[in-house]
Amino acid sequence: MNFVDIIMKKKAGFPLSDEEIRLFAEGAATGSVPDYQLSALLMAICFQGMDMRETTTLTMSMMHSGDVVDLSGIDGICVDKHSTGGVGDTTTLVLAPLAAACGAHVAKLSGRGLGHTGGTLDKLESIPGCSVDISEENFIRQVQEIGCAVIGQTKNLCPADKALYALRDVTGTVGCVPLIASSIVSKKLASGAGAIVLDVKTGTGALMKTLEDSVKLAEAMVGIGQYAGKPIFALVTGMDQPLGTHVGNALEVKEAIDILSGRINGDLLEVSLELGARMLIAGGQAENVGDGKAQMMEALRSGAGLRKLAEMIQAQGGNPAVCEDISLLPQAPVILPVPAPVSGYVTRMDTTAIGYCTQHMGAGRAQKTDIIDPAVGLVMQVRLGDYVEAGQPIAMLHLRNEQQAAPAIEAMQQAVEIGDKKPKKLPLVYAFVSANSIIYADGYGKVR
Ligand code: URA
Ligand code: CA
Repeated sequence: MNFVDIIMKKKAGFPLSDEEIRLFAEGAATGSVPDYQLSALLMAICFQGMDMRETTTLTMSMMHSGDVVDLSGIDGICVDKHSTGGVGDTTTLVLAPLAAACGAHVAKLSGRGLGHTGGTLDKLESIPGCSVDISEENFIRQVQEIGCAVIGQTKNLCPADKALYALRDVTGTVGCVPLIASSIVSKKLASGAGAIVLDVKTGTGALMKTLEDSVKLAEAMVGIGQYAGKPIFALVTGMDQPLGTHVGNALEVKEAIDILSGRINGDLLEVSLELGARMLIAGGQAENVGDGKAQMMEALRSGAGLRKLAEMIQAQGGNPAVCEDISLLPQAPVILPVPAPVSGYVTRMDTTAIGYCTQHMGAGRAQKTDIIDPAVGLVMQVRLGDYVEAGQPIAMLHLRNEQQAAPAIEAMQQAVEIGDKKPKKLPLVYAFVSANSIIYADGYGKVR
């Protein structure tokens, strides 16, 4: 088969055969198709799209381009959760221990920060001693014994996606539903989970900025699950402001511990309960969403969730005492406020800019080889709709040195818009997408 013919076929708008799609994934994984031809086909797919059969074939071909983790040694159904990426999104560290305390098996291969978004692995590594480099054997044993493990990928998972993602990044072909859906789901299927709950973010800090596009992405991923015979559910949740108040690695661990200790609640806990309840249903521990949330709230109240987090940290080599004494986490030496430039209501946040602001402070990487500063970040002092007086802090910056302050203050004053009119309250969960239905929050779309 001549690869040029495949490119021209897609360019003309025709669906590709399964064999042609397999050649594409194999060619990416092995390097047998040159980057310029892979890139041309990626661009053709961006313009012409792929139907569900093509998207599923691409997903399965990418999944089988490398190793597939075998979790069959773990009793019951392993459930996984994946977020399309956000800011202040520490749901994994809240819900994995809570779900495990309710009897779920959470076997999660996580990622590092990417662009403006944080990564769970970087957050875990901010805990003194905690490792995310765990052998597959120990990973399986930990999930079996404790109920949860969050580690980095050890094996050669989805090399086709690795190659294609790197090309998409530099050819303007990231933002395309079938390419994103197959990229995410291929990695989730290769990591072996029996059921997957997806958190598709929507808003100013999300990969997909509009609700319509976010729902399309959720539908595509749920649809792949249907074709592949794997239960996949998706919540579409808001990312028009950081989900938690803390942004930065150790700061986000601290917020997760504060939540599991019952000291604070709010949107981060709410979304964690919504996602966790679906994980408990998928894993067979809960009957319905209300039951799942009630079980998780009980695990929070009793302290069982916090104890699970301590057990998980200990099993991964970290100091579990951080769960009792958060001062054991890395602390930034300089803490300074970002004053509101004017009085008024917080009307909009550029959440992507807030993420980049912390990245520039050292909480994320601009280049792959950059070293993360675990202590730096910021703590938001306002939420959308709040009223602030000029000069009141909109955020507290946690900095390595005072030189970092001026650019961060300017970035945050730009990112947080203040106006005269109180904005409409936005929902936390916009939609729930399953194989048979889409259920929207009131006023945000039609029930299918
Ligand atoms: N995350 C992924 O893993 N793949 C994409 O294409 C986009 C986000
Ligand atoms: Ca995450």
